[in-house]
Amino acid sequence: MKSLKVGIVGCGSIGTELAQAIDKEIREIQLIALSDIDKEKAKDLAASLSKKPEVSSIAGLIKASDLIIEAAAKDVVPALARKVIDQGKDIMIMSVGGLLGNEDIFDLARKKNSKIYLPSGALAGLDGVKSASIGRIDSVTLTTRKPPEGLKGAPYIKRNRIDLDALTKEKLIFEGSATEAVEGFPQNINVSATLSLAGIGKEKTRVKIIADPSLKRNIHEIEVEGEFGRLFSRTENLPSPKNPRTSYLACLSAIATLKGIVSSIKIGT
Ligand SMILES: NC(=O)c1ccc[n+]([C@@H]2O[C@H](COP(=O)([O-])OP(=O)(O)OC[C@H]3O[C@@H](n4cnc5c(N)ncnc54)[C@H](O)[C@@H]3O)[C@@H](O)[C@H]2O)c1
Repeated sequence: MKSLKVGIVGCGSIGTELAQAIDKEIREIQLIALSDIDKEKAKDLAASLSKKPEVSSIAGLIKASDLIIEAAAKDVVPALARKVIDQGKDIMIMSVGGLLGNEDIFDLARKKNSKIYLPSGALAGLDGVKSASIGRIDSVTLTTRKPPEGLKGAPYIKRNRIDLDALTKEKLIFEGSATEAVEGFPQNINVSATLSLAGIGKEKTRVKIIADPSLKRNIHEIEVEGEFGRLFSRTENLPSPKNPRTSYLACLSAIATLKGIVSSIKIGT
């Protein structure tokens, strides 16, 4: 079987986990190229692998790959996705928030017959939301609880001058739509974008963010009501050993999605 050529843009915690997984355990995939705004990170990662990929520009990476993985940042997504799809290639996107407001990318993918893969990330229950969305869904709410440390630096926190260090008990710090959540917390709440795309859209999906100094885990709860009944899921995420802001399950979900692409058996909706 011809192996799938993959290039990774962004060699941080998710990019590194993916590169190592491909190198060690996914025989059907060839990691062909790595790219990072910080070239040293891409070089170091390439050097650590047993089958060495090229370290290249984004344009070179797209040219050499069948599937491009974005594991960099929200702002990278629109231009990268358009370039990839324009060339009729497929893309897996981790910074899903970057798709909100850029939905023309979905139309472009349909036109070019390209595939866009959006892993579940650190969230359980998307299988049920996808099934439910075939019928009527009345409401979707995501409640995310994080240690204050994990929310530091977010535009919403800065704008509203929220002193996260002063918190002694849990506090609801944000409530709004998925659109507003992604704008206010671009690095923290990609799951709200994925949930909105799987369910009832970015305006109707409600998001609550609670900062809780007693927590060591990032906790996501989703509650969905509709024609099918009620769905409630709770995921308690430990941080990735490589980046405390990223849940380990998000890395594992990216690896699982990649394995799913080359597997002949598809489980779940
Ligand atoms: N979908 C999900 O559930 C989920 C979960 C966690 C993280 N994420 C998102 O996935 C992305 C990667 O997460 P991570 O934990 O690996 O982050 P990270 O900070 O560990 O790594 C990001 C890497 O991308 C590189 N980078 C930044 N801007 C770039 C650019 N313009 N071009 C090329 N490289 C660039 C950085 O130098 C860094 O090496 C982030 O946007 C994060 O918000 C999504």
